[in-house]
Amino acid sequence: MSVLQPRSYVAAISPYVPGKPLSELERELGIRDSIKLASNENPLGPSPKALAALKEYLSGTGDLHRYPDGGGYYLKQALCEKFGSRGVKVAPDELILGNGSNELLDIAVRTYLGPGDEAVMARPSFVVYAMSVQSVGAADVEIPLTADHRHDLTKMADAVTPKTKMVFVANPNNPTGTINRKDEFGSFMEKLPGGVLVVLDEAYYEYVEDPDYPDTLRYFTEGREVLILRTFSKAYGLAGLRVGYGIAKSGIIAGMNRIRAPFNTGTPAQVAALAALDDREHLQRSLAVNGEGKQYLCREFDTMGVRYVPTEANFIYLPLEVEAKRANDALLRKGVIIRPVGPKEIRVTIGLPEENRRFINAFKQFLAER
Ligand SMILES: Cc1ncc(COP(=O)(O)O)c(C=O)c1O
Repeated sequence: MSVLQPRSYVAAISPYVPGKPLSELERELGIRDSIKLASNENPLGPSPKALAALKEYLSGTGDLHRYPDGGGYYLKQALCEKFGSRGVKVAPDELILGNGSNELLDIAVRTYLGPGDEAVMARPSFVVYAMSVQSVGAADVEIPLTADHRHDLTKMADAVTPKTKMVFVANPNNPTGTINRKDEFGSFMEKLPGGVLVVLDEAYYEYVEDPDYPDTLRYFTEGREVLILRTFSKAYGLAGLRVGYGIAKSGIIAGMNRIRAPFNTGTPAQVAALAALDDREHLQRSLAVNGEGKQYLCREFDTMGVRYVPTEANFIYLPLEVEAKRANDALLRKGVIIRPVGPKEIRVTIGLPEENRRFINAFKQFLAER
């Protein structure tokens, strides 16, 4: 009897391994009060304005029995106003909402890639790109980062062939926290032929402090084939609700809307995101906490003589001299959850001051015990 099997190219995908929930880990290791610095979440929690809007929504008669507004009318209007106030004209049909920006990159892949096509991306970068591309039978062409851990945009442009339909640029990159700056990004865009969608993943753009960070909306305004992805999961603190958005010219968005599930973002997610967008105070506080945490951690690493990659995001990449697994296991036993992201590389999310101190103390102990 034949047994149902996934398609060969789906069976070949290495599955994403999510971190365990805190409670599960604490039970397994017999520890308490552990801290999670593993998923680049906002340590301050959600925007208070978003929480208030959600509470109000849920305390009324509510309409949870109704399907959400599949077009996300109010959230799109608010986004258009926000961009308009900064002098960038974005129309609602140039926006798409997603169940996190993760869903949007998946929709883009399913819309524009198929068997025989190629997508160029960096390695290491956000692991979901390769999985998504492989899931439709297309080939992921992975270009190693430069020696200073940034996307090698020259080699990435050189890797574009007539089969290439998509290029992913995570800026800042996950897991390294590095960015590609204006000039090199401009030259890269000039080299790309038509018919290639550049997916600009800007999940961490709010955190960037470097004045030479590229303003990618410019390429959208010029009518280039770009899809800019942003999210409410990071600086806005709404990772659990799953809401992100994409900006592209209307033809690109219309293509994606053909296969988007009609109700892909729920009402609570839309309500909270709308309120969060208005919460400048929470955003500013989040960026300040991150900036201070970054300074503290880098100072400590410098003092300890630990190598780290300067970051423009809310996490830090550490190329270690020992196996990442050993560091991870030792930190876990001390109740500190980080993310091993390579054989000798770990990534730690910048947390609250107390969390950062606990991480540093645990890390010092690990280094001393070796
Ligand atoms: C570079 C990058 N892109 C996209 C995402 C997905 O974020 P979300 O689906 O929560 O918007 C993440 C999440 O960690 C990320 O690191």
